[in-house]
Amino acid sequence: MAATLNPSEDVQLKPSLSGGKVLIGLTGGLAVGLSIVCFPFVSPALRKVCLPFVPATDCQVKNISLALKSCSGTFLDIGSGDGRLVIAAAKKNFTAHGVELNPWLVHYSRMSAIANRVHSRTSFFRRDLWKFDLRPYNTIAIFGVEEMMEQFETKLQNEVADGARILACRFPLSKMEPDAVIGEGVDTVWCYRMKRLCN
Ligand SMILES: C[S@@+](CC[C@H](N)C(=O)[O-])C[C@H]1O[C@@H](n2cnc3c(N)ncnc32)[C@H](O)[C@@H]1O
Repeated sequence: MAATLNPSEDVQLKPSLSGGKVLIGLTGGLAVGLSIVCFPFVSPALRKVCLPFVPATDCQVKNISLALKSCSGTFLDIGSGDGRLVIAAAKKNFTAHGVELNPWLVHYSRMSAIANRVHSRTSFFRRDLWKFDLRPYNTIAIFGVEEMMEQFETKLQNEVADGARILACRFPLSKMEPDAVIGEGVDTVWCYRMKRLCN
């Protein structure tokens, strides 16, 4: 038997149907928004070298600051994350730059530099570290992963001038010998003085 619809039921049905559509729209919009925000944080896992965002610990920042003591010039942090190493270097009077793929972290770093009153000495570039020119820098920090260090050392050898300082956090370079080691465990910073290696 065919169902008959009471006109008063019809009136009640319409608002709840459009309410459902609004809810679906909101949930869908939220899901798309969350994906847009989260994608830059998960995308490093899709690259050949997976370098995720893991911020330097306070102790690592302190060790980097110690390594920068009585030095000056141009500093670069490779994969600068939320900008904490760049800001620490700018506080030591370096002209300090960061190269970082994640656009949210680049925006955050710029805001953080303003909050720390070092924005006039800092710049953050939304670029791929492997395509970034290292030649203008006399001090370079890298908090990388073990798998990338050999390839990164080749890039250093090709681009960085003799005498430049390289500061490696958590993982050392594979071929060069450090002239100082600061801290221990996960907070270790290996300090190198750049010199061409013979193959
Ligand atoms: C281990 S975190 C280090 C963050 C920061 N240097 C610190 O010490 O707090 C590595 C950073 O490199 C970034 N990254 C990964 N691949 C990159 C690439 N190809 N080019 C530039 N940045 C990259 C990640 O987004 C992440 O923020």
